[in-house]
Amino acid sequence: MVSFKLSSVIALALAGSALNINAAAVGKRDGAAIDKRPSYTGVKAVDNCQSFTDNFDPNTDLHQHWEKMNNASTYSLTSDGLEMKILNPRGSGLGPGSLFSSKRLMQYGFIEAKMKSAPAGGLVTAFIFMSPNGDEIDWEWVGDEVQTAYYYQGIPDFSSADAKALKDQSTNYHTYGIDWQPDAITWYLDGEVYRKVTKESTYKDGEYHYPSEAAHVELGLWDASGSESTAAWAHGPINWSEHPDHVSAHVKYVKVDCYSS
Ligand SMILES: *[C@@H]1O[C@H](CO)[C@@H](O)[C@H](O)[C@H]1NC(C)=O
Ligand SMILES: *[C@@H]1O[C@H](CO)[C@@H](O)[C@H](O)[C@H]1NC(C)=O
Repeated sequence: MVSFKLSSVIALALAGSALNINAAAVGKRDGAAIDKRPSYTGVKAVDNCQSFTDNFDPNTDLHQHWEKMNNASTYSLTSDGLEMKILNPRGSGLGPGSLFSSKRLMQYGFIEAKMKSAPAGGLVTAFIFMSPNGDEIDWEWVGDEVQTAYYYQGIPDFSSADAKALKDQSTNYHTYGIDWQPDAITWYLDGEVYRKVTKESTYKDGEYHYPSEAAHVELGLWDASGSESTAAWAHGPINWSEHPDHVSAHVKYVKVDCYSS
């Protein structure tokens, strides 16, 4: 939920300047990110971290690894994976949406999801690390744009955000990965390095503004139409007359791979 709040702050800052942000593809790799990532070189994972894969077939027990879900009208397991929904609020207010937060924390690790984002401006599809104090590493989708970003202790420094139009992100599945290590974060798109940020590069005002606190893995879909600036950031507000019942994002699988020494 911190991300939701944070994102509205982000929106304020981005309203003026987001569109100057350059997307930077840092390098290329072949094959699935999970098999190609560099070997882990850091400290021990937090004790209660547990690696798992959820394939989101109709028999998946969503409560085994995830918590904080809204009631079952906001999600379902389908032959197309996990369907996260935002319901048409039918009148005023925001459409109720989806949040899946991992029960266990992880400190450094690799996460990967095969996803299709929600096909509507004004909504935010999210696959992120979120720590209790606002260390955050994001893949977020707004309209036809995908954004990567990271935050340190909830400080609203928006210079980390990087946005790029993918065009088919809501119609085709893509694989999105984040490799979080003590010295660098690497985002992967379809098995290729998409962006890399080193801890070294985050040094500012006497400290590293680098996410390092144990965090939950979160999947979410939320309505950003609450304030004008947030809606503008998310390419909204959403026009609900085009979506009489709900809008969905789909997740085929999630892999969570904790690092340990
Ligand atoms: C399910 O949750 C949504 C969102 O909070 C709410 O609008 C709806 O009334 C709830 N439905 C039931 C049956 O509790
Ligand atoms: C919302 O969508 C409807 C149906 O497509 C359209 O008639 C209406 O003009 C749209 N409203 C806005 C504000 O774009």
